[in-house]
Amino acid sequence: MDQIIVRGNGPLNGEIPIAGAKNACLTLMPATLLTDAPLTLTNAPRLSDIATMTQLLQSLGSEVASLQGGKVLALSSAQISNHTADYDIVRKMRASILVLGPMLARDGHAVVSLPGGCAIGARPVDLHLKALEAMGAELDLRDGYVHAKAPGGRLKGAVINFPFVSVGATENALLAATLAKGTTVINNAAREPEIVDLAQCLRRMGAQIEGEGTSTITIQGVQALGGATHPVVADRIELGTYMLAPAICGGEVECLGGRIDLVGAFCEKLDAAGVSVTETARGLKVSRKNGRVKAVDVVTEPFPGFPTDLQAQMMALLCTADGTSVLEEKIFENRFMHAPELLRMGAKIEVHGGHATVTGVEKLRGAPVMATDLRASVSLILAGLAAEGETVVSRVYHLDRGYEHVEEKLRACGAQIERVKGA
Ligand code: EPZ
Repeated sequence: MDQIIVRGNGPLNGEIPIAGAKNACLTLMPATLLTDAPLTLTNAPRLSDIATMTQLLQSLGSEVASLQGGKVLALSSAQISNHTADYDIVRKMRASILVLGPMLARDGHAVVSLPGGCAIGARPVDLHLKALEAMGAELDLRDGYVHAKAPGGRLKGAVINFPFVSVGATENALLAATLAKGTTVINNAAREPEIVDLAQCLRRMGAQIEGEGTSTITIQGVQALGGATHPVVADRIELGTYMLAPAICGGEVECLGGRIDLVGAFCEKLDAAGVSVTETARGLKVSRKNGRVKAVDVVTEPFPGFPTDLQAQMMALLCTADGTSVLEEKIFENRFMHAPELLRMGAKIEVHGGHATVTGVEKLRGAPVMATDLRASVSLILAGLAAEGETVVSRVYHLDRGYEHVEEKLRACGAQIERVKGA
């Protein structure tokens, strides 16, 4: 397995292009199943998760062409020739569950493997299933698969009340509702920019949707959807991750394509920590206002709150802050696995349940560390950029799921970072 070697090398200066959002692309791609017309996604990120979703859609009979080095995805599903999403693909990526709603909506039946848990938590899909049942789907869970049918071959509009916010369940319900008979109202809907991006794409395809970005989304089902060309929204998690590079190392980095509206709550915390963020014509310019950053407390919440997907990266910054910070992880039950690895680098962190108390140190020390999940892996790289000496991050396949060419992007700003091909 590949490893990434990072050596602390002082301030970073330069510019980093921000790619299209992984978590938007993973919900936009299944929209091809809703129509026999072509769907073209531009500004697509080149990531292993996108390759996995491509493989899954192709297994269902979709054509997916990766053009311009993967930045453009041309999808078309003249028909769904196979309605079963196999476990061997689904287990690799939980977002695979997002083919369930569209297949049910298009053809009235689908068989999708339950995704199983992952490192950061059990991550059930009960809300996805309850939403589809509310729309008339009959679900039979057996041998690890969801066998779903829509009586009469078509879902019907419904009022869906989510007991708590779920990004994926909102996406599955939204995708399914576009072709349902009648009106669907999703209450307590997720408000993430990726949901807004999905709604804008579906509207381009002819869907009738109102309210995306608020807690209530209303969809009038239509008989059929057409094709569209849609640019994938910028990746706010990649953006936040790279904004932390000059914050932890010093220097000044411009994140090209970054939008301040995508990272509002995150920027409030950066400002409180003493990191300056300036909007430019090309994106966001980030630098430290003066020396060491200050400790700040963080609580992860659904958008527009502080994103859970930036918690690990923020912890890396706070490990070097002047003072003590408390991070509360309220979205996932096990999302502090980066903490033991940061401790190996000399960080001072105490984890109790969903709270991590971080007492900042002047300097971290490089060490061999292990990536455990996508966002934890990049937090170790950020820590390594600011540490004395060498940090070797192993199991970087986690990283490749969500960050394209991370070493090239950081090296362009002066980082000493290289990938060592594993056996
Ligand atoms: C999406 O996951 C993202 N993934 C995650 O990003 C992100 O952390 C998460 O939203 C929260 O923002 C993609 O978009 C592909 P949820 P999702 O449903 O949809 C529980 C990354 O690093 N829940 O909002 O799975 C769930 O266990 C990934 O890019 C249920 O109990 O997240 C969690 O505790 C990691 N039942 C909470 O809700 C359900 O049916 C929020 O999950 C669904 C979710």
